[in-house]
Amino acid sequence: MPLSNTATSYGSLARTFHWLIALGILIMIPLGWIAHLAPMQDAGQIALKTALFSAHKTLGVAIFLLALGRIFWAIVQPRPVPLHPDRRAETTLADTVHWALYAALVIVPLSGWIEHAATDGFAPIWWPFGQDLPFVPNSPELAETMATVHFLAQWLLVGALVLHVAGAIKHAAVDRDATLRRMARGEPAGQPGGRHGGAAPAALALAAWIAVIGGGAAAGYFTNDESSDAPALEAAASDWEVQEGTLSISLVQMGSEVTGSFADWTAAIAFEPQDAPGKAGEVDVTISIPSLTLGSVTSQALGADFFAASEFPTASFRADLMNVADGYEAQGTLSLKGAEMPVTLPFTLTLDGDTAEMQGRTTLDRRNYGIGDNMADPGQLSFEVEVLIDLTATRSGGT
Ligand code: HEM
Ligand code: HEM
Repeated sequence: MPLSNTATSYGSLARTFHWLIALGILIMIPLGWIAHLAPMQDAGQIALKTALFSAHKTLGVAIFLLALGRIFWAIVQPRPVPLHPDRRAETTLADTVHWALYAALVIVPLSGWIEHAATDGFAPIWWPFGQDLPFVPNSPELAETMATVHFLAQWLLVGALVLHVAGAIKHAAVDRDATLRRMARGEPAGQPGGRHGGAAPAALALAAWIAVIGGGAAAGYFTNDESSDAPALEAAASDWEVQEGTLSISLVQMGSEVTGSFADWTAAIAFEPQDAPGKAGEVDVTISIPSLTLGSVTSQALGADFFAASEFPTASFRADLMNVADGYEAQGTLSLKGAEMPVTLPFTLTLDGDTAEMQGRTTLDRRNYGIGDNMADPGQLSFEVEVLIDLTATRSGGT
């Protein structure tokens, strides 16, 4: 069985590429929709949806790499002649659809992959080569645009595929010619010298792609504004005022690190620097739970099985600021999701007149707060959650 094409036949490599990819695409479209529509209310459903998306992405990347091989092979190989070059319109339509399919084989998986690389968390690709792509920044806006491109492009793929398969059936059932056999079994067919539709269909197919996808993406077709409707916390009256700071958390989900932060939190700080060990002040931190963003899993993290943000919209940490042998510690109680647990947060402090910079970190066990109780496997979601705080505060006079 010859590997290469001739003027009238597809070689075994072109046919293997065609049917492997056809099978892959026919699995990917339903898999994409099943994963997309799968519910995500509780931890069991989240685990299933994650696995469906990981399967979708892993198979999708494999198809993309196969498609690149296929396109390279199509470029370096002779292209078998059309069977009915005299039927100009039909030949042009078939060629246009083939070009659209080739474009889809690049645009659909690549947009999905860029969307994946631009977010963190949720459903990794099952492979050891990392989850990022060079030149793709971590950007929710880019991810949103790529999700739109992926969505629009897969519909164009479906449309082109329906025409393509309808054409193949028409050749087999109506024309009763060798078109399908040529691709299925490698049978030669057609007269050498017959001409394809030319460059026009390629230009047409590409222009249509760019117009629809670019237009849809530019219009921000599916921008979903998930801004939280939780009321902002009132600033806390305090000796020290926090000028800027971040309160972030980080955990490991299915082997990849996911980092997020709370946009809205306040801290009332009373603090008198001292050299002797012992209590140097107090802090009272209030955190707005709905202000959390956590990669692509924000809304799940806020759901009932995890932070339960609507039932427990705030968390608090009340602590004594202690001067200890090798620095400082905030020793107190963290109230989160109805549970109260003692927490010690070591921190460093740099004082410059009335300005203080502080950095602290501690590790919590999410099970102490009933977060993700149904996710009993730390391989899916780590038990340890790293908390990092970094702030600059100034003394507001008075004390
Ligand atoms: C399962 C359903 C499918 C059937 C029955 C089918 C059938 C065929 C047949 C009979 C040909 C030969 C046409 C000719 O010789 O002029 C062909 C070519 C082609 N098919 Fe499919 N196909 C299917 C799925 C797909 C899929 C999923 C893709 C890609 C997304 C695809 C992309 C192509 C391309 C690009 C060509 C043109 C090859 C070339 O000349 O470079 N097909 N297909
Ligand atoms: C090989 C071709 C692929 C096909 C035919 C395909 C098809 C689909 C379909 C039909 C959907 C559901 C509709 C939608 O939500 O847009 C979907 C969703 C999705 N696909 Fe793919 N996909 C492919 C490759 C990939 C790859 C390689 C990745 C990532 C590495 C990926 C990531 C995603 C993501 C993240 C979604 C959810 C989009 C969202 O709702 O935000 N896909 N895909």
